[in-house]
Amino acid sequence: MQKAATYTSPEAVRPSAVAPQAFESADAEELACLLEIGQTLAGAQDLKTAMRSVLETLGRLEGVTSGALLLREPDSEELHVAAAHGVGEEAARRVSYRLGEGVVGRVAETGKPVVVPQVSREPLLLDRLGAARPPRQQEELSFVCVPVLVSRKPAGVLGVSFRYRQGRDYEHTTHMLSIVASMTAQAVKVEHLIESERARLLDENTHLRQELRERYDFGHIVGSSGPMRRVYEQVTQVARANTTVLLRGESGTGKEMVAHAIHYNSLRAGKPFIRVSCAALPETLIESELFGYERGAFTGANARKKGRFELADGGTLFLDEIGDLNASTQIKLLRALQEREFERLGGTETVRVNVRLIAATNKDLDRAIERGEFREDLYYRLNVFTIFMPPLRERKPDILLLADHFLEKYGREHGKSIRRISTPAIDMLSSYHWPGNVRELENVIERAVIVCESNVIHGHHLPPTLQTAEGTGTVTRLSLEAAVGAYERDLIQDALKTTRGSRKRAAKLLDSTERIIGYKIKKYGIDPERFRD
Ligand SMILES: Nc1ncnc2c1ncn2[C@@H]1O[C@H](COP(=O)(O)OP(=O)(O)O)[C@@H](O)[C@H]1O
Ligand SMILES: [Mg+2]
Repeated sequence: MQKAATYTSPEAVRPSAVAPQAFESADAEELACLLEIGQTLAGAQDLKTAMRSVLETLGRLEGVTSGALLLREPDSEELHVAAAHGVGEEAARRVSYRLGEGVVGRVAETGKPVVVPQVSREPLLLDRLGAARPPRQQEELSFVCVPVLVSRKPAGVLGVSFRYRQGRDYEHTTHMLSIVASMTAQAVKVEHLIESERARLLDENTHLRQELRERYDFGHIVGSSGPMRRVYEQVTQVARANTTVLLRGESGTGKEMVAHAIHYNSLRAGKPFIRVSCAALPETLIESELFGYERGAFTGANARKKGRFELADGGTLFLDEIGDLNASTQIKLLRALQEREFERLGGTETVRVNVRLIAATNKDLDRAIERGEFREDLYYRLNVFTIFMPPLRERKPDILLLADHFLEKYGREHGKSIRRISTPAIDMLSSYHWPGNVRELENVIERAVIVCESNVIHGHHLPPTLQTAEGTGTVTRLSLEAAVGAYERDLIQDALKTTRGSRKRAAKLLDSTERIIGYKIKKYGIDPERFRD
């Protein structure tokens, strides 16, 4: 607390220090007031509201006509009204003081209290708030302004106007207000901490969203085959509308990726994208996950919890594996989609949300409807705009692009500089039937990157399923002889590629003889002419 009170008015007396006994002379009314203020601040949820009632409490003290708390924004030279009592609301919103400006600015700059016994005689007083204008003409007011010190630095000021009374004990008043100011300072400190934590989280959130956006930007979907181009067209058509989208296609074809792309290319891009996997959650959990619950809805529901529908408000809700949704949740979902509203579990309040829905499934929904596993009415709700994701085996030209993309991605991730994929390995990748689609290809390449010790991915870096029968997928195991043969063939083809078809130089490269290489070329049916250019 600041000891010295500066009196700026000409006839004012400068006190040496606020005497300790000043507080002792506080009357019962003031103590009750301080107690109330302490309680208000201790239970405060938000500073502005709390300060308004603090100023109100002060306003009940004898002679007080108005009061205001002005705070300095962090890293700024300006003071703004955080809360006021007895002054015009409009003025409170508009008014600001620079550091050092007027009495208020001076207190904020020096951190020392100022007492103005008679405001009409103080030219320094700017009174932008109109707090020093007496309610009745000819009436004189006094003004006491004390600093709010946070970590010993002025974070703002507390100013109070009183009806002028001759012989008022200003020391005492200053002391009393300084106590209120130091209690306020605690609340300001807490508010600053909360604010900076919130700012940090917000910052982190924005950063993460940006990162997500970049990752799922259209440009990150690899593939230029005809079927993929049709997918891009459809995404472009539908993204900016609020239409419900149903994504169908085998597992690993990129449905989730496309769902992201739709969201990040929509007008909702800045809002949340919330995913729920209908298959991952047990029946009992999925409803509370989607719609949330009220406190006491079931054992363990200790507080209200928002569901994913509410969390996605303003943004996109992605219901993945919707074909696995149980019957009772299907009904609830249908209602939520039809009426755009629902109740939380165990609640009666109707929740309205603005959500764009994207659903995905690898199931044959028509068959599921026939079998009575999926509601037809829900299907029609979802089937507004359907995008079919083509399986990888139907877009062979994309295999290489994807393989290169993943090679770069995992090379970087595992700190390896692998430059290319050998021709035989490419042949193996191209002729495989990819039942697991892009996800399987991604796994295959990551594995190859991990086991590869050189700067080229060879056939033997690929899993055995790809080594056999050139991708028919009929043979799943490989004999040692066949595996060694595949490896040998691979090495020779690769060497021939490097030497542009020269057997002699290939033999040298492999530390072998031209005769042996010639023999193997025949054995494996390699055509060296293929490598000449
Ligand atoms: N066209 C594509 N370009 C790049 N990566 C893809 C592409 N399609 C799928 N992927 C990748 O394959 C994996 C599976 O994709 P995902 O969207 O989860 O498939 P689905 O939801 O259809 O099972 C993911 O890691 C994804 O990044
Ligand atoms: Mg998926």
